[in-house]
Amino acid sequence: MLAQILHAQGIESVIVERASREHVRTRLRAGVLEQGSVEMMREFGVGDRVAKLGLKQRAIDFRFAGESHPIDFEAVCGRNTWVYPQHEVVTDLMTARDASGLPVLYDAPVTRIEGLEGSQPVIHYEQDGKPVALQCDYVAGCDGFRGVSRSAIPADKLKVFDRIYPFGWLGILAEARPAIKDITWGCHESGFAMMSIRSPSVTRLYLQCAPDEDAQAWSDDRIWSELHKRLDVPGLPTLEEGPITQKGVTAMRSFLAEPMQHGRLFLAGDAAHIVPPTGAKGLNSALADVKVLGRALAEHYRSGRSEWLERYSDTCLKRMWLVQRFSAGLCTMVHQFPGDNAFVRRLQRADLEYMTTTAPGRLQFSENFTGLPIAA
Ligand code: PHB
Repeated sequence: MLAQILHAQGIESVIVERASREHVRTRLRAGVLEQGSVEMMREFGVGDRVAKLGLKQRAIDFRFAGESHPIDFEAVCGRNTWVYPQHEVVTDLMTARDASGLPVLYDAPVTRIEGLEGSQPVIHYEQDGKPVALQCDYVAGCDGFRGVSRSAIPADKLKVFDRIYPFGWLGILAEARPAIKDITWGCHESGFAMMSIRSPSVTRLYLQCAPDEDAQAWSDDRIWSELHKRLDVPGLPTLEEGPITQKGVTAMRSFLAEPMQHGRLFLAGDAAHIVPPTGAKGLNSALADVKVLGRALAEHYRSGRSEWLERYSDTCLKRMWLVQRFSAGLCTMVHQFPGDNAFVRRLQRADLEYMTTTAPGRLQFSENFTGLPIAA
């Protein structure tokens, strides 16, 4: 997306990618786009397919204490989210990149980045087993949590904030019609569960599990019975079952590195921050970062002014700490923590009651879930 934003403003870039083109295009990941993410795709010329294929989501149904408590964000704050899987976003961006004629180097692992404090940093990568050096003006570290760019920042210049949760999500893909039109969250004594959507015939489901759970230990019968227990409520349609085509376990953490810049390196997305998946903020936060960075670089090349670039880290961190607050808060509200006592569980229930049944509670959830403003 950063390359696309830059290209739209006449700025060249080279994308250096460790994985293969096929891996990048098909890897299954997040599924929910904030309204601002959809608007960004439209603004930078990659919004046609999401407009046609994206499934508008106007509400989330929170289920607890045997009842349904929907929050209709369109009614509450006039904004929405869209279900549009991340690999579709990537496909749209790859199509646009191909049309631009600008390079993407696949199967090209970056080994190190040098000269960040000077005016011409160098990215060292391998192609066909041979070392190559690429000199550039700026490096955008968009290489994920385990990428090399964050480690190019000297340890004494980086402060890291981290929380690891004592549970994970068993993610399930099923060929089943989403029987309920809204994304549904089951906040149950047995643990959290979610029903989300990937298409009119594919359901995406999650079950709270141990962080080191073996997905293969979950038979299809056990999965469906646990999902029904945590998600169904009396008087409403029950979850529709279908063949399970994929299952895997995701660990949960909150992580943020400060600052998000060192010399001519700018970190964006998972390279700088991780959120638990509860708030659906991973992909959306990466897009928010690169919108700020794209605008700052464009301003620099246009006018020679670099104030926006210098403010990049502060601008992103300010928003990102609010996103961390929302994601960690929600994660804590809906999951069962091993060892919590009955008092803590009642407090969780009261948090859920407040969020779903009061006007300020609903507004706070809706504004955060549909996406905070991006200061770019
Ligand atoms: C998903 O569809 O993967 C999803 C939906 C809503 C969330 C998190 C994940 O809050």
